[in-house]
Amino acid sequence: MNIIKLDATSSTNDFLKDLLTKQFVENFTVIVAEHQTKGKGQMGSEWTVELGKNLTFSVLVRDLLLDIQGIFHLNVAVAVSIIEGLETFNIGGLAIKWPNDILAESKKIGGILIENSIKRNGEIFSIVGIGLNVNQERFENLPKAASLLSVTGRLFDKEAVMLAILNNLKRNLSLLQAKEYELLWQSYDSRLFKKGIPMPFEAGDSSHFMGIIQGVTPNGKLEVLLEDNSVKTFDIKEVKLLY
Ligand code: BTN
Repeated sequence: MNIIKLDATSSTNDFLKDLLTKQFVENFTVIVAEHQTKGKGQMGSEWTVELGKNLTFSVLVRDLLLDIQGIFHLNVAVAVSIIEGLETFNIGGLAIKWPNDILAESKKIGGILIENSIKRNGEIFSIVGIGLNVNQERFENLPKAASLLSVTGRLFDKEAVMLAILNNLKRNLSLLQAKEYELLWQSYDSRLFKKGIPMPFEAGDSSHFMGIIQGVTPNGKLEVLLEDNSVKTFDIKEVKLLY
């Protein structure tokens, strides 16, 4: 495992992207930074964290041949790897809020930003960015955010947490490579936040409705059972779970 440690960079995802324009970068190269000045979150948001307390790292995943609709499998493998890595530290109440927020005790402790390109032969070339709140104590004005410290009362060795996640990721990527999706999907599905529970949702047009999460389709859409007993699938821009 080739790990490059930085004190600061704009974004570990962007650092890796830039490195790729300059030189050959081996599969599973990891960039980890103590500080990001322009950390990127999902859907154009910013990812800001307290200096030095949390984990921000990116992993290059290259030469992985997935089924045509299989790009979401990578999300699944990454989310599951984070959860399985954290479980080795006896952290309870872990869940995955679709599509890929990592929660502990119903609060967000981590996020994933995967930037993909797919080659003509179907091979993917992905920058997998992971942000995990580890030793941050306070989350003022962020009632739905937390860290490993704030949920357990324990301080963590950031490097040990990262290595646990990376080891799981390595193993789970081999499952993907072998097209053994079943185990990963079961693991993802069994940790899906609020699955099977009637919950309020907000639709893309800001209207509200009640529904029950059934699962996630192979291409990453959320399956929700509606009050009229029909099952509808939503993509990320079309629905928001209210909790
Ligand atoms: C989210 O919005 O939930 C995704 C957050 C992803 C943040 C990580 S931190 C490491 C990597 N570099 C970035 O700029 N973003 C990702």
